[in-house]
Amino acid sequence: MTTDLLRLMRDPNLIPSEKQTLLSDIAAQAAALDMPCYLVGGSVRDLLLGRPINDLDIIVEGDAINLGEALVQKIGGKLTPHHKFHTAIWHQTTDTIDLITARKETYSSPGALPTVTPSTIDDDLRRRDFTINAMAIRLDGDHYGESLDPLNGQKDLEQGIIRVLHPRSFVDDPTRIFRAIRYEQRYAFDIDPATFNLINSESLGVLGGLSGERIRHEVDLIFEEEHSAKMILRANGLNFFERIHLDLPPFNPDYAEFLDMDPTLDIPADRIAMGYMLWFMELTEASIQSVARRLCFTSDLEDSVSDASRLNRSLPFLADSKPSEWSFAIEKLQLLSIYAVYLVSGQKALLDYLVLWRHVKPHTTGDDLKARGLQPGPRIGEILTQLRAAWLDGSINTAQEEKEWLNKIT
Ligand code: CTP
Repeated sequence: MTTDLLRLMRDPNLIPSEKQTLLSDIAAQAAALDMPCYLVGGSVRDLLLGRPINDLDIIVEGDAINLGEALVQKIGGKLTPHHKFHTAIWHQTTDTIDLITARKETYSSPGALPTVTPSTIDDDLRRRDFTINAMAIRLDGDHYGESLDPLNGQKDLEQGIIRVLHPRSFVDDPTRIFRAIRYEQRYAFDIDPATFNLINSESLGVLGGLSGERIRHEVDLIFEEEHSAKMILRANGLNFFERIHLDLPPFNPDYAEFLDMDPTLDIPADRIAMGYMLWFMELTEASIQSVARRLCFTSDLEDSVSDASRLNRSLPFLADSKPSEWSFAIEKLQLLSIYAVYLVSGQKALLDYLVLWRHVKPHTTGDDLKARGLQPGPRIGEILTQLRAAWLDGSINTAQEEKEWLNKIT
């Protein structure tokens, strides 16, 4: 254990102090149970890179469920055990931690989900995707801070290299091709040439056969990243989306800057939905339906993307419309879809709708009209719509003008 590693593990900017307390609790219980216990994977990678850790990835040699039960008894919280995989989720008020039993994985066929058997930390590190993700730091008792790096991950981390552990890695699990691209672009690392050559027709063939859920999960993760556009463009450059669906288009690099939501607009941000809208904006309706089926979109996501591309296509027909015509044409569409089309088209009417027009309402309500003697029925709705249009188009500008307009027709 180097003093450097100790310093990183105690740095509250990298591991917040509440998480450090949890780590000590876990370490103490694991030692009491005589169970070797480790921080592994992305936590170790990011710690060594001096980046804040989001999730604590904990592995034990022994049954993680026993450790979880001891933690609940001593410290509190709740446990969700998964007996089949010997894992447990420990929930406390502020945090949720996955406790995993060290495992060996075998793949019955390329791309299948792995068969898992309990094993040692060494096997657990060797089942992983890249050397930079195959390091561990031991936590229990006197072993606190011992580092395990059987595959020289630290050296690759220092040199910025993404390297698989064995030549069948991408065939076993082609989602790792997406992961390689994510790390490459996120950390500005290089994919080792031998690893790069494994992104070949065999592994891409297996990738093409993966379920829509698994592929979409990987693309969702990409859209959650800061450099998502670069990642999709890199995947475009490697021509592997065509293995998944022939209609998946290149990502327009000009749209990269649009993934971040303008916080001054009161529209709920959704980077993932925005990502898919920008990516598929120029596709035909039929292609969107087909791609949505392949990637197992939720109906909500499919609607957002279809709304956006339909609106984008109809812009030439709406160009000379009045504010009321714009508003009535787009008011049923999702706000984020309208915003996406504004971003790519620069059509100012769309921004006017989002910022101003959608909030415009007449003072008069249906009840006011009934009080004026109108019978309940469609006529009331028609009058309210006409009033709203008059406000939007500027032919009514004050409450007094609204009253005068009403006096003329009722
Ligand atoms: N892993 C793997 N193969 C996969 C997915 C995950 O070997 N297809 C291993 C890696 O060792 C990874 C760990 O499981 O470090 C945890 O996976 P995950 O939480 O997805 O990744 P992180 O390493 O935490 O990376 P990220 O920062 O991208 O979430």
